[in-house]
Amino acid sequence: MLNDEYLMARKRHDHFYKMAKKDGYRSRAAYKLKQINERFRVIRRGDSVVDLGAAPGGWVQMAQELSGGGTTIGVDLQPIRKIDGAITIVGDITSEDALNKIKELIGRADVVLSDAAPNLSGDWSYDHARSIDLVEHSLLCAEEILKPGGNFVVKVFHGDMFSNYLQSVRAKFRNVRAHSPEASRKASAETYIIAKGFRK
Ligand SMILES: C[S@@+](CC[C@H](N)C(=O)[O-])C[C@H]1O[C@@H](n2cnc3c(N)ncnc32)[C@H](O)[C@@H]1O
Repeated sequence: MLNDEYLMARKRHDHFYKMAKKDGYRSRAAYKLKQINERFRVIRRGDSVVDLGAAPGGWVQMAQELSGGGTTIGVDLQPIRKIDGAITIVGDITSEDALNKIKELIGRADVVLSDAAPNLSGDWSYDHARSIDLVEHSLLCAEEILKPGGNFVVKVFHGDMFSNYLQSVRAKFRNVRAHSPEASRKASAETYIIAKGFRK
């Protein structure tokens, strides 16, 4: 069913898609990170950044730009085509293996990002549960590798486990906000949690 909200979202989607193509970013998602950073300043120059669920690499490109070439590592189940200056690895972020590899490569990071998403099945509660599994592992990874005071950004699909998850992030960071960037489709049910000031 096409309603006004859906059509507006579609238009916004196409606008950011065309912009990404023109500006050389691999995904329109790159602008979501840019908008998040303009508002919350999660990435600063010189920061080391780990990006979980990073293919095709739009956030890795943007993180590199925002950090002024600080170390950036992107991890995904899918191989990521080479991005100059960044490290990309194939790995499952729910596995110990991937976590150990990241630790080996970076030691500790200033920022952990997670835009990881399951392949959607169309069954809302099932997809929500899988999204929660990914974000819980992303939080575990952040706890393992963030420097004290570090920042964490994670995408979560709405559902009944959202507020519990938000609480578990609040327990670990000094300042936590839920935010929907303009470059997200309005009709989509994703929210980004912006968590600053990791309490080690
Ligand atoms: C929305 S895309 C990320 C887009 C990316 N931020 C960008 O700007 O190009 C979500 C990604 O999460 C990845 N993903 C899902 N489950 C994963 C897992 N268990 N381990 C690693 N990556 C995963 C998918 O393969 C997919 O590439």
